[in-house]
Amino acid sequence: MKIKILTLFPNMFMQEIGESIIKRAIDNKVVEIEIIDFRKYSKDKSHHVDDTPCGGGAGMVLKCDILDEAINDNKGNNTHIILTTPQGRMYNQKIAEELSQKEELMIICGHYEGFDERIRSFVDDEISIGDFVLTGGELAACVILDSVVRLIDNVINKNSKDDDSFSNGLLEYPQYTRPVEYKGMMVPDVLLSGNHKNIREYRLKESLRKTLERRPDLLEKRILTDEESKYLKEIKEENKK
Ligand code: ADE
Repeated sequence: MKIKILTLFPNMFMQEIGESIIKRAIDNKVVEIEIIDFRKYSKDKSHHVDDTPCGGGAGMVLKCDILDEAINDNKGNNTHIILTTPQGRMYNQKIAEELSQKEELMIICGHYEGFDERIRSFVDDEISIGDFVLTGGELAACVILDSVVRLIDNVINKNSKDDDSFSNGLLEYPQYTRPVEYKGMMVPDVLLSGNHKNIREYRLKESLRKTLERRPDLLEKRILTDEESKYLKEIKEENKK
C-alpha cells in the first residue's frame, strides 16, 4: 500500500515513521509512505498557504488553489483522499479496516484556523478522531496512519489483530504474563491449565464482562450469539451478588 501525507509540518511524522512496527513495515516494503510539504505549491515569494477570510473575521484560511494543485500533482488513479477535520465522520476500528484495504491513501492534514470550504470538493472522505479540536490535522493523520498500517497483511501477526479490542465489536479480554503471583494478585488458574477450550470460553466471557463494564454501548449494537447471551446472563447474575 502507498500512503501520501500532505502537511505543512513534515517533521511531526518523522518519529511515527522512524520507529517500531511502522518503520519495519516500510523497511519490508509492505507500505510506502511519502510525506509531502504542500507549502512548496505556494505561488508567492513568502510561501504563504493561507489568506484572510472573505467576509472578515479572525484567523487565516487555507487556500484552495494550493491544495488543489498539491493533490493533483500527487494522486494516482486509485487514491482514496482523506481530509482530517473535526467535522469528519468519527474514526473507529471499522474505518481503519476499510482503509487498510485501499490501494493508495492520501491524507491531507487540515489547518488550525480552518480551510476554504471548496477544498471539501477535492476529497473522498473526511475523518475526525474525536470530539475535540487539535491545533492541526497532523496528530489525526498519525493516528490514522498507525492504525491502518498495523492492519495491512504481513505487518503484524494475524491472531493478535483478531483479538484486538473492537475488531470483533468487543473490548479485548484481560492478558497476563509471568510471574503467576505478584503482590498477592494471581494469574487466573484457567490460563495456566493448558485447556484450550476453557481458555477460549474464559476469554470470551471476560471480553463480554469488560465491554459491559466499560462500553455497554457496544453491546447494545451487537447481535449476540447464544453463547454470548449465556455468558452475559451469568455476568449479570454475578454482579447482583
Ligand atoms: N483537526 C483538528 N481537530 C481534529 C480532530 N478532532 N480530528 C481530525 N482532525 C482534526
